[in-house]
Amino acid sequence: MTRPVDAAPTTPVPRPAHTTDCTKAKCIALTFDDGPGPFTSAILDALEKAKARASFFMIGSAITTDPGIVRRMAAAGMGVGNHTWSHPQVTALTPDQVTGEITRQSSAVAAATGHEPFAVRPPYGAFTRSTPHAGLPFVLWDVDTEDWKNLDPTRTTQRALSGAHPGAIVLMHDIHPSTAKALPGIIAALQKQGYTLVTVDELLPGMDPSGSYYSAG
Ligand code: NI
Repeated sequence: MTRPVDAAPTTPVPRPAHTTDCTKAKCIALTFDDGPGPFTSAILDALEKAKARASFFMIGSAITTDPGIVRRMAAAGMGVGNHTWSHPQVTALTPDQVTGEITRQSSAVAAATGHEPFAVRPPYGAFTRSTPHAGLPFVLWDVDTEDWKNLDPTRTTQRALSGAHPGAIVLMHDIHPSTAKALPGIIAALQKQGYTLVTVDELLPGMDPSGSYYSAG
């Protein structure tokens, strides 16, 4: 029997409790946009192998082609986020259209995992004070690896590490093989510097649903 995409599963995926107190630990939040895609599982492999967590801001229409990977993220304690249904520039849409883009993606996440996404990342980081949040905080970034532009593991790594600081939110994309290739080295270097790699909601517990966040310091 085929389950309709907007129906929540009977049993939500059990998620491990987060235990990192970022007021004490040196935390950093890696984030991945625009997936899931062919390289997402390699990125999850690298994170899990290193006992690291990250957050994924996913496109709803891509989730429906691979809901299993979203269940895997939730079960591994990764942050499961919303990057709208079809990745429009929301400042060009009506408020109702924006709300529809967000809630349709949230329904796809809920159908896959039994949980709502924790936050929205507006595509291109574009929003205004009047952009509807549909009940979710906006999470931006303060370190941009430009991985989508350089498509180069060395350059992506350099930008991630040179921008890294306690409380940073780092922007990457899990749709590029160069990013998947760079990730194990980025994780190892950050951990060697004493960082704990956490989800955004560990870094910023208790986010205001109408707030917009770029980092924790
Ligand atoms: Ni995007």
